[in-house]
Amino acid sequence: MRHLLSVTDLDAASATALLDTADRLKQALLGREVRKLPTLRGRTVVTMFYENSTRTRVSFEIAGKWMSADTINVAASGSSVGKGESLRDTAATLAAIGADCIVVRHPASGAAHRMAHWADRDAAAGAVGPTGPGSATSVVNAGDGTHEHPTQALLDAATVRDRLGGVAGRRIGIVGDVLHSRVARSNVFLLATLGAEVVLVAPPTLLPVGVAAWPCRVGTDLEAELPGLDVVMMLRVQAERMHGAFFPSSREYAVRYGLSERRAAFLPEHAVVLHPGPMVRGMEIAPAVADAPSSAVLAQVQNGVHVRMAVLYHLLAGAAA
Ligand code: CP
Repeated sequence: MRHLLSVTDLDAASATALLDTADRLKQALLGREVRKLPTLRGRTVVTMFYENSTRTRVSFEIAGKWMSADTINVAASGSSVGKGESLRDTAATLAAIGADCIVVRHPASGAAHRMAHWADRDAAAGAVGPTGPGSATSVVNAGDGTHEHPTQALLDAATVRDRLGGVAGRRIGIVGDVLHSRVARSNVFLLATLGAEVVLVAPPTLLPVGVAAWPCRVGTDLEAELPGLDVVMMLRVQAERMHGAFFPSSREYAVRYGLSERRAAFLPEHAVVLHPGPMVRGMEIAPAVADAPSSAVLAQVQNGVHVRMAVLYHLLAGAAA
């Protein structure tokens, strides 16, 4: 694996291998006073974020550090992007500076694919890369526009495995702003690849064109779906990507699509509640539901570190743990 750009590049075996590596890395760190493995000593990971992030950026940084990689964080706002530098020149600059891996978040769908394409083409042409002419930088998609967020889907799958023993055969509902959600798209494709049955529930205005071709079913009545779900994943309403009115008001959204305490009671006892974060409490999910034992929101965050360790390991160490 040279890059991680899309979950559609993963088959069930390669996704499972990443999840198994994440489990092994988690076990390797358990109970250690010093959370440091030598695995990626001498490797350099640069996170380049053109959009805000807490979970993804920090967990990639921790993941690199716990495996002894040198990890450098760049925010677009404090970089030469502010002086007009193109994505193409930024990618080539980071490769020449010595980045073995660039973890990129960008508002444009396809930005990570472009960076990976340039990295491969430059390496093939003998351009200066991280370890000299012709060496290639790996690219990880940490969220590109409304397209994909593959490590989020992997950490969600890891959390379902932890809580329910496996993904295959589970019915997983994904609820809310599917239209603007790269998390939803990555999850639908990855969870289906791993054998889950996925159901989307969303306002009709927040469903993407072409969803009929996705490997999932679309439901319309959240309360009718909840009793049959093993997992319910509430999505963030992505106000920053909305240029127009997609629903009448946040109150009406909450009434129809929010996971209130009353509504959460429709779920089976074993069901797990997920949210990729950041949560808009009271609108997407009631505070009491977000903080209940059935909620795995903070377990998702924890698993994010181990999954991102596994991704960096597979990319930079080049073999299964
Ligand atoms: N889930 C997620 O991507 O969160 P951040 O935006 O905080 O990274």
